[in-house]
Amino acid sequence: MNVKLIEVADFEELSSAAAAIVEQQVLGNSHSVLGLATGSTPIGLYEKMAEGCRQRGVSYKNVQTINLDEYRGLGAGHPNSYRSFMNEHLFNAIDIPPANTHIPDGRAVEVEAECRRYEALIDRIGPPHLQILGLGTNGHIGFNEPGTPENSVTHCVALTDSTRENNARFFASPEEVPTHAITMGIASILKSRKILLLASGAKKAPAVKQFMEQRITGSFPASFLWKHPDVTLIVDEEAYQLV
Ligand code: GLP
Repeated sequence: MNVKLIEVADFEELSSAAAAIVEQQVLGNSHSVLGLATGSTPIGLYEKMAEGCRQRGVSYKNVQTINLDEYRGLGAGHPNSYRSFMNEHLFNAIDIPPANTHIPDGRAVEVEAECRRYEALIDRIGPPHLQILGLGTNGHIGFNEPGTPENSVTHCVALTDSTRENNARFFASPEEVPTHAITMGIASILKSRKILLLASGAKKAPAVKQFMEQRITGSFPASFLWKHPDVTLIVDEEAYQLV
């Protein structure tokens, strides 16, 4: 099995285990390229990384980061953009130079050109040594919704109702959740040298169960990770309860 499984008790342990893997990567290569994700799952990891930077001298001065996705229409200044999320939860709390952090430009007028620029950037400074991924309840990774082709690169997508509902909690009202996003594709994600997939909480249990069935299908995008040679899945008890 090419997916290494780490079972932990809860979100706290999941965050520490993930941070240990990230720090090992960065301490081993100070010029590492990290692929980063948003959502609630990596927030604990980002707190631990900030702690490691402050207290244990783990430096991100020469690290480059490449984020998976950004909402279409939201710019850096919008409180719900993924750029703002990353600044708040990680970048402002570590010593990474802002120029080393890369996120698709949700406000780009020429969206196709922006997607091409981003994919070229992944190839130029990446691919990431280590890609962090959360798992959508419908099996999405990044914003690659069910039905996304395996050979997809960075592209603009219409978000599904379930994804918009899941993300509505971050917005003042459900109507404010953007309808589209720019996301790295499945093929862009699979370029990463190592992948760290995180799943926490009972809400993710059905998706974790389906992932562990190892059936590769376009209707469950995370299943394509079974084709990658180096994936680590960290799950907590609640997320793993149906397996
Ligand atoms: C959003 C992000 C995904 C993330 C997913 C799960 O849709 N674009 O990259 O994995 O949310 O979010 P959470 O971690 O909050 O469950």
